[in-house]
Amino acid sequence: METLETAKIIQRLEDAIELSNISYRYPNAVEASLKNVSLTVEKGKFILLMGSTGAGKTTLSLCLNGLIPQLMEGILTGQVYVAGKNVGKTAVQSLSKVLGLVLQDPETQIIGRTVEEDTAFGPRNFLVPLDKIKEKVNQTLAKVRLKGYNQRLTEELSGGEKQRLAIAGVLVMEPEILVLDEPTSELDPIGRSEIYQTLDDLRRQKDLTILLVEHSSEDLIHKADEVVVLNEGKVAWRGLPAELFRNLPLLRQWGIKPLPVSQIGWNFYEKGWISFGQIPLDIPATESLIRGLLPKYGHRQGERHKKDPLKKQEPNLTDKVKAVQVSNLIYQYNSGQPALQGINLTIEVGEFVALIGQNGAGKTTLAKHFNGLLKPTSGEVIVEGMNTLQYETYDLARTIGYVFQNPDHQIFSTTVEKELEFGLKNAGFKGQVIRERIDQVLQYTGLEKFRSVHPFSLGKGERQMIAVASILVLKPKLLIIDEPTTGSDWTGVQTMMTLIRNLNAAGTTIVMISHDMDLVAQYAKRVIVLKDGGILLDSTPQDVFSNESLLLNSAIVPPQLCRLSSQLKDILSEEILIESSEFTAMFESGERTGCL
Ligand SMILES: Nc1ncnc2c1ncn2[C@@H]1O[C@H](COP(=O)(O)OP(=O)(O)OP(=O)(O)O)[C@@H](O)[C@H]1O
Ligand SMILES: [Mg+2]
Repeated sequence: METLETAKIIQRLEDAIELSNISYRYPNAVEASLKNVSLTVEKGKFILLMGSTGAGKTTLSLCLNGLIPQLMEGILTGQVYVAGKNVGKTAVQSLSKVLGLVLQDPETQIIGRTVEEDTAFGPRNFLVPLDKIKEKVNQTLAKVRLKGYNQRLTEELSGGEKQRLAIAGVLVMEPEILVLDEPTSELDPIGRSEIYQTLDDLRRQKDLTILLVEHSSEDLIHKADEVVVLNEGKVAWRGLPAELFRNLPLLRQWGIKPLPVSQIGWNFYEKGWISFGQIPLDIPATESLIRGLLPKYGHRQGERHKKDPLKKQEPNLTDKVKAVQVSNLIYQYNSGQPALQGINLTIEVGEFVALIGQNGAGKTTLAKHFNGLLKPTSGEVIVEGMNTLQYETYDLARTIGYVFQNPDHQIFSTTVEKELEFGLKNAGFKGQVIRERIDQVLQYTGLEKFRSVHPFSLGKGERQMIAVASILVLKPKLLIIDEPTTGSDWTGVQTMMTLIRNLNAAGTTIVMISHDMDLVAQYAKRVIVLKDGGILLDSTPQDVFSNESLLLNSAIVPPQLCRLSSQLKDILSEEILIESSEFTAMFESGERTGCL
């Protein structure tokens, strides 16, 4: 008996994380958020934790750093050990020395006035000598690409810069275990890869254990040792990333985004042309697969795949009024360089435009000019025929809808219904009209079931939808939406994007800011790349994403399928394809013809 106990204790020291039979119910919740979860993670492993909204990923993270049960009420049963310490019996403060947690929303984690103060906060608390702190802070800021930002005020950072800072605040503590809850949702594509690379390097040098909550990313498939899928509070699956990401039906079942290239491979697998193990997970494997299969199954052998020539979006010439007209726009915040350095831009009525570019490029700053939240330092912005200098923001708000990067910056009512009512009343609408519009929009956005619910009791994806709904009731002609899908799972992303697409089809002009290049390629008809406050590129998604090296300078990586197209240029007549179905269209639709 005693030896069994000793063996258990020794095992506990080997394991970084041990959850046994954990169940947890939030105060007032009807159902438990975690149900009998048992999970051990060996020291030095890199685990990807996945699952749809509400699956319990964040709750599990909070159990690991002691916030549950020590600071949050609710009912917890079972045992949690991290680095051999019993979490229920160890002070949160001393747990933070071994386990660092990066939260989903960076703003809840930033406390310092300047970037340097904020990063130094943790080490200071543990009485690290001052000169050592300075050195560590500088090293860590360089790792998250915030070198030289030391004296910048934290409240004046862009969304992505804040997220980088939140990661720095945890890395600087050099914990043994890192738990990160969607830490890169607002980072530009290169920034995201850099953070994953940093994590991978750290664990190789220092035997760091990593538990990363993320929606899928092609970088992670080759970095993570294992994936754990949570579904409705239970561990639904555990295994190798390749096993999960080849299995499209499983991904669909749990609301996880598949890799675009695997979708092409799955199609071949279904036709019986390749085995399950041959379903590709990256570009090189897909390229050789396509090249190998083409002679046998390609549409009319030898003929090159041709599509209609690229078409730019036709301007609506009957509309004299432009949705947006920007001339020589310069904008200077109080400190530093001008954030916008002479922008000239016209957006026609009915366009669907994506604004992309690296963190801090000026996307949000530009978009805030479209509804008069910011006024030009010099130059002019005319939206729907109104010069923003001559109109108050609330006048513009009747025609121009703006959904903030962080939905919590615009939600303040106690129920979803009141949130929608607020804008309508403010705009002077009354009784019946208010009721009709609210009913219509709740229906349209799928929020009807949350009508009387407090917005802050819902997940971030749902809060994002509420923020959109509160704008839609005003029936804007121009909708500006800043990173609409950061808190959503794959299903939520599709709901949101279908909604935006339908609005556009019904005539609303859309300006969408996003770091998700797959979405941009799939939905936008025009893409504008900002760099250092200026316009770098402005064209169709196909044109923009064929400039791989130019985009790299701007921290953008084209979508996976666009990069695959570049590799297959000789077969594709130099076209850039965007949908996986466009690739499979190169192959005959016929039945299996014998090859494996
Ligand atoms: N309130 C502010 N005060 C001072 N500087 C600011 C403020 N907001 C943003 N900036 C700075 O202006 C530049 C452009 O920021 P902006 O928020 O427009 O970037 P962004 O392209 O939207 O980035 P992200 O992708 O991270 O959201 C950045 O250098 C940023 O640090
Ligand atoms: Mg922004």
